Amino acid sequence: MESDTCDILTRKPEASDGFAIHQLIAASPPLDLNSTYSYYLLSDHFRDSCVVAESQGQLAGFLSAYLIPSRPDTLFIWQVVVASDQRGRGIAGRMVDDLLARMETHGLQAIEGTVNPSNRASRALFERLARQRGCPLQETTFLEAEAFGPGGGHESEILLRLPLSS
Ligand SMILES: CC(C)(COP(=O)(O)OP(=O)(O)OC[C@H]1O[C@@H](n2cnc3c(N)ncnc32)[C@H](O)[C@@H]1OP(=O)(O)O)[C@@H](O)C(=O)NCCC(=O)NCCS
Repeated sequence: MESDTCDILTRKPEASDGFAIHQLIAASPPLDLNSTYSYYLLSDHFRDSCVVAESQGQLAGFLSAYLIPSRPDTLFIWQVVVASDQRGRGIAGRMVDDLLARMETHGLQAIEGTVNPSNRASRALFERLARQRGCPLQETTFLEAEAFGPGGGHESEILLRLPLSS
């Protein structure tokens, strides 16, 4: 896809971004909405591995990620969201690229994330990365739908892993 994001500013989040991030996620099904407080924590304690995208001073996107504590050479990308009127312009891809550029000196060995089987757009993000980096996209089941309790309210979570060193 052609990316036209020159009007987009990407940066690390500030704690004060937490509320706007919470609102953006609330308006972006099918993402799970976490508490406002969790977005404040992400924006402060995990700011080095999170990204905010802004368009004309407005929040246009957010990406949360962290180095897995027991495997700190692996970056886990958690939630990626772009405001509905800004989608399809390459903003999600730009946030991922900016984060990986920031992490260049961390000796990353792998990138992981989970996707729902029906979410084409989130899978496309990982496929794009695998293409860009020339690495395979390994797929396993992370959580079965039943793990989320009875009622069928949640799809299974598929773990996608990109080994960077192969
Ligand atoms: C997923 C999401 C973040 C993508 O944001 P975006 O800025 O529109 O994505 P980009 O424009 O950077 O596109 C990235 C890739 O995804 C593909 N893509 C984007 N939207 C797509 C869609 N609806 N269906 C299939 N592929 C899609 C693009 O074509 C591109 O792949 P390519 O480089 O091979 O062409 C956005 O659609 C969103 O916020 N969705 C709701 C929240 C969500 O489901 N998040 C993902 C789970 S964490």
